[in-house]
Amino acid sequence: MENKIVITAMVMADYNQVIQLWSTSEGIGLSDADSKENLERFLQRNLGLSFVAKSGSQIIGAVLAGHDGRRGYLHHLCVSSAYRRHGIGSTLVETCLGKLKEQGIKKCHLFVFTTNRDGLIFWNKIKFNRREELYLLSRNLD
Ligand SMILES: CC(C)(COP(=O)(O)OP(=O)(O)OC[C@H]1O[C@@H](n2cnc3c(N)ncnc32)[C@H](O)[C@@H]1OP(=O)(O)O)[C@@H](O)C(=O)NCCC(=O)NCCS
Repeated sequence: MENKIVITAMVMADYNQVIQLWSTSEGIGLSDADSKENLERFLQRNLGLSFVAKSGSQIIGAVLAGHDGRRGYLHHLCVSSAYRRHGIGSTLVETCLGKLKEQGIKKCHLFVFTTNRDGLIFWNKIKFNRREELYLLSRNLD
């Protein structure tokens, strides 16, 4: 890696690069929830909890984090393929968890596609336990 990797809080100016990173990666499922308007609302409701990793001005990693007062949630953790296996993904996660902890949150959940084998290995490695007793249920509201 040529440049030093810097982790900073995600801001709306990062949106285009972050969407580009997510949309070109396997394992990330984008939806209408990721529109500019919705991301802005998410960042405002969860100030200072989401992060990007930068090499110079290039965003090479990103993660969303938030909480609902009870539990924390991570979404869309992604590291550019050329920068993987250098600890950037786990640093992004630990940075989010540190901030959630500061806000009194004691447990954090996340969603993983059942087909995302490498992602599951990564999460297991950093001590996120797969819940065998739960299903995720969803309903559209429109
Ligand atoms: C998952 C992801 C974010 C990991 O990022 P990363 O920066 O490579 O992760 P780290 O370097 O911090 O990995 C920490 C440890 O996890 C394990 N790990 C990470 N990726 C792995 C892989 N592909 N296969 C096996 N183990 C892996 C390793 O034990 C690694 O430590 P090591 O490199 O010292 O052996 C990255 O692979 C990615 O962006 N994947 C595509 C998007 C995705 O699936 N995101 C998760 C959505 S739920």
